[in-house]
Amino acid sequence: MHFWEYLTFLWHQLTFKAQPLPDSIRLDGQTAIVTGSNVGLGYEAAKELASHGLSCLILGVRDQAKGNAAKEEIAEVSPGCNIQVWLLDHNSWASMVAFAERAHTELDRLDIVLLNAGLKRLEYSQSPTGHEAHVQTNYLGMALLSMLLVEPLRRTAQLTGKPSRMTITASSVAFWAPTRYVEKPQGGKGIIAWLDNPASFVPGTNHYMLSKLLDLLWTRALANRLNPSDIIVNIPNPGYCQSSFHRVDEGAQNFSKYIAFSTIQGAYHLTDAAVQHPDSHGAYLSEQRIRLVSKFVSSTEGNTVQHKLWNETIALLVKECPQAKIEEFI
Ligand SMILES: NC(=O)c1ccc[n+]([C@@H]2O[C@H](COP(=O)([O-])OP(=O)(O)OC[C@H]3O[C@@H](n4cnc5c(N)ncnc54)[C@H](OP(=O)(O)O)[C@@H]3O)[C@@H](O)[C@H]2O)c1
Repeated sequence: MHFWEYLTFLWHQLTFKAQPLPDSIRLDGQTAIVTGSNVGLGYEAAKELASHGLSCLILGVRDQAKGNAAKEEIAEVSPGCNIQVWLLDHNSWASMVAFAERAHTELDRLDIVLLNAGLKRLEYSQSPTGHEAHVQTNYLGMALLSMLLVEPLRRTAQLTGKPSRMTITASSVAFWAPTRYVEKPQGGKGIIAWLDNPASFVPGTNHYMLSKLLDLLWTRALANRLNPSDIIVNIPNPGYCQSSFHRVDEGAQNFSKYIAFSTIQGAYHLTDAAVQHPDSHGAYLSEQRIRLVSKFVSSTEGNTVQHKLWNETIALLVKECPQAKIEEFI
């Protein structure tokens, strides 16, 4: 990261005050899915959406008891919202496919999807799918769900005559990721295989940052394939926030006492992107505004990586999750 970028980051953290959705925004009749919503940013975002009159809220969580606790708390402030807890584990292809299948069959409409589940690890760990943990949870899980949920969102847009929304939680650390890992992956098997390889793992936050870079590249590639009059896809940075996310990172936890946004403030960035900014298709947002992406992401090299990543991801999912209905994207 350059010194100037770091100063800008600090400046925003110390001075920016994210705003909640204006009271005038009403979501009556609408249905939203929020993943990773038992705690942290996802929980606060789900709670804020519900408080604007949302009719149905699906909490996508991997632990029923934690989901039920979140549901009870949200129901206390938004008793009129039909809140359902659906199990979803990014570590299981079957779980993600079953989750999306429920959205297809059980929801009359789906207006908003907030794909937010994520993790940070400082040491190498592997998902039961065989992929590195960040690659699986932050990237592959998000990418698969982003395709599987297109159909109900698009069907709803045709019903309502206005675009549905898909928002993917970003991080500005995407721009701090060392791009050599994606530009020149070693091992000869591509970007994902290299990031899965323990030899590519440097203890610390490299892989977390790289997974967020993959999220951004994927979102841009997906947006290119979707019509914004059906679905507006965007990717907001919530800023550096207090949440249990940093529990594995003592340094970040200590640092966050001084400069982090509260979890609620962080969540305001997500709800803002999911409901406002009709002109944000394919865009990265930060401080509740559409922002330029890094030089790398917008460069020819970045576009080449984006294209390769898309093709690799589709090939991987076709092979490892053949039950997923993603024909439209192949
Ligand atoms: N906090 C920050 O400073 C910050 C900054 C920028 C971006 N973000 C992004 O914001 C998002 C939410 O983070 P947070 O700060 O709210 O962290 P958090 O409090 O740790 O919440 C993460 C959520 O993701 C869920 N999750 C983790 N692994 C999962 C899996 N395999 N399948 C399904 N759900 C899973 C967690 O479920 P469990 O409770 O069951 O583990 C939890 O609900 C992440 O995408 C993160 O990258 C955070």
